[in-house]
Amino acid sequence: MSEFRSDALVFFGATGDLAYKKIFPSLQAMLKRGHLDVPVIGVAKAGWTLDQLQARVRDSLEKHGGLDAGAFDKLAGLLRYVDGDYADRATFDALRKQLGSAHHPAHYLAIPPALFETVVEGLASARCTDGARVIVEKPFGHDLASARALNGILLDKFDEDHIFRIDHYLGKRPVNNMVFFRFANAFLESFWNRRFVGSIQITMAEQFGVQGRGAFYDQTGTIRDVIQNHLFQVLANLAMEPPARSDSESLRDEKVKVLKSIPPIAENELLRGQFLGYRKEPGVAPDSQVETFAALRLEIDSWRWQGVPIYIRAGKCLPVTCTEVIVRLREAPRIFPNCIPTPNHLRFRISPDVTIAVGTTVMDINDGQVGEPVELLASHHAGAHEMDAYERVLGDAMNGDRTLFARQDYVEEAWRIVDPVLKKMTPVYEYVAGSWGPREVDGSVVPPGGWQNP
Ligand code: BG6
Repeated sequence: MSEFRSDALVFFGATGDLAYKKIFPSLQAMLKRGHLDVPVIGVAKAGWTLDQLQARVRDSLEKHGGLDAGAFDKLAGLLRYVDGDYADRATFDALRKQLGSAHHPAHYLAIPPALFETVVEGLASARCTDGARVIVEKPFGHDLASARALNGILLDKFDEDHIFRIDHYLGKRPVNNMVFFRFANAFLESFWNRRFVGSIQITMAEQFGVQGRGAFYDQTGTIRDVIQNHLFQVLANLAMEPPARSDSESLRDEKVKVLKSIPPIAENELLRGQFLGYRKEPGVAPDSQVETFAALRLEIDSWRWQGVPIYIRAGKCLPVTCTEVIVRLREAPRIFPNCIPTPNHLRFRISPDVTIAVGTTVMDINDGQVGEPVELLASHHAGAHEMDAYERVLGDAMNGDRTLFARQDYVEEAWRIVDPVLKKMTPVYEYVAGSWGPREVDGSVVPPGGWQNP
């Protein structure tokens, strides 16, 4: 954790979609918990006034999570607004004025990466970078080269310790609980390796489509949108070695090591799909080759995991919305002639509900020789009081806790794994909305024993 708490939160893109859906509700939640008492300065080029921004905040809270009149009044009181072009020095002079006596602002860039350089330059020219932190949204770059270029831009004005690269999956409690659960319990370690684990599969299914984000999505695709970041973070939590200490850098060191052990994905280890109707979405090219579904296979070439195939699939317009991990163990030797044991598994469900389950085989009630699969299950429904991922990551960034943010070396390793195959533009197969992706998946990217649909 670094030495200071941010004394102002500045966010660029104040009139945008992310602010509306995620940031305002998180700010209200922080206020309700007593975690926010500093000026919140929205910046955008919309020709708006502060009154308009406050009305937008009210609307956002009403639609996303519910308005709390007391908290809203306090938030409205903390809110400031700077309207202006990011390329105009006057915008940043106005921001400096609004910052008043704040010496340690946190600048949250909730804007397209193409604008990062302009904004960072503007901040520096008006001395808004002194003593400041910068928070940036994913996807961090478009490929390895652009991620490096972005890092260069940020590192030119901020120390790595003051750069917070958001991956909101890291703000999810069940994602963090994977690390906690693994290392707070002794029993797992005995089988958590290549001798006992036969395969791992991670599914992130979304029932909805691109939800009006066609223009963004068509520049991004599933691999860049959720696999290279969210699902690799889930995999790193599953596969990492115990950290030497529990501080942010020791934890992040172990995560990077997992990625370092993963060779780049080969063409025949990836299958891309696109739901029928995607090309008619506003903002999407009529001949788009961008994937809305991907299934891939990779390996972690480490002492612990070498030879264990790892399957990841994610997609829009699938039958359900659910993110789940299945760690399938190798089969038990066969002792009971009529019992074909199903391999044991460990199942982590991340959303919509939180579940940890151990898959076992028990004796069938009616037949002592036959087995029946049964899960030992612990599950939990998040209550309204639980922190949302964005609330957690924003609070941590303002407190200087880097644990839940992607470090530069991690981001670059993640791109190294997917970049070559992305550049190959492998075929995109169509699938019907509401199905589990293209039929072609079955013949190519399938875990031993098959995909387990949530
Ligand atoms: C975002 C992606 O990062 O994560 C979206 O851009 C995706 O496409 C979303 O739907 C999923 O996050 P969550 O928290 O709703 O599961």
